[in-house]
Amino acid sequence: MSGFVSFVIAGSGAVGSHIIRELLQLKNTGKIDNVTILTRSVSSPVESMLNTSAHLCAQNSRNLDEYKNAGADITVVDYGSAESLKDAITGADVVISTLNHHPAALQVQHLLAEQARAAGVKLFVPSEFGGATDRENPEGVFAIKESVHHKLKELDLPYALFFTGPHSDYVFVPYVPRLVLVCRASRVLTRGIRLLGLDLNSGNVTIGLDGNAVNSFTTQRDIGRFVAYVLTNLPRSKLEWRIFRIEAERKVRNFGHM
Ligand SMILES: NC(=O)c1ccc[n+]([C@@H]2O[C@H](COP(=O)([O-])OP(=O)(O)OC[C@H]3O[C@@H](n4cnc5c(N)ncnc54)[C@H](OP(=O)(O)O)[C@@H]3O)[C@@H](O)[C@H]2O)c1
Repeated sequence: MSGFVSFVIAGSGAVGSHIIRELLQLKNTGKIDNVTILTRSVSSPVESMLNTSAHLCAQNSRNLDEYKNAGADITVVDYGSAESLKDAITGADVVISTLNHHPAALQVQHLLAEQARAAGVKLFVPSEFGGATDRENPEGVFAIKESVHHKLKELDLPYALFFTGPHSDYVFVPYVPRLVLVCRASRVLTRGIRLLGLDLNSGNVTIGLDGNAVNSFTTQRDIGRFVAYVLTNLPRSKLEWRIFRIEAERKVRNFGHM
């Protein structure tokens, strides 16, 4: 047993929602004491619903009510403010970041990690949950994710990294205008999407590579279950500075962009 009983989760979106639901179940059985969710806002501005696209797996802030009713504490934070973050994190054993893959969101993890260290947090789980980022010369989002590992080493705040490969319940699901999602008309696809070689507009699939490359796939629900399980059941020595490479399935990924 890790002995960790107090968890802070930054972000409650596609991946975060699954981890939160698992942790709340553990809270309701008495295995852990606290689940605190950090958010920038508890409201969903109508403007952003109208103007942006959203993934069908996206969760909106209305889910915060569900988590609150199930026992979570919801804390509004300013990710640019050290004080706001430290106040929100103080008392936590573990901070789990599930902030999204946009550079601005991933970057705030540096300050989040600093404040976690200052607040006495014991373990930091950065927003990984994808392809391995401990590779040589990572680029783009991978480089930002890797920079968080360096930050945590610098701070001497142990991390646990979860590499999952593509999420099979995410990568084959298209983006839709946010309004469609909000109205729960999730089967209405009003815009053509091209994702991993699938072109929903034309119905064509682009085949590439040589058909032999294998890839790990994991569902987001399995990620939530795995993360919550190991963070509460493994001893700390098996969590600190560890990388968990998980996969539900290993499949040939013989599609790609040519
Ligand atoms: N391998 C794959 O197939 C795959 C698929 C999906 C995700 N992922 C990875 O999983 C991780 C989580 O992604 P996700 O899809 O779960 O994220 P998401 O649902 O898009 O967003 C998670 C949360 O990030 C917060 N956020 C968004 N922009 C922010 C900003 N600029 N500053 C601070 N917070 C911000 C939002 O919380 P609030 O609005 O409540 O503040 C949002 O609920 C990422 O590292 C991503 O790369 C991998």
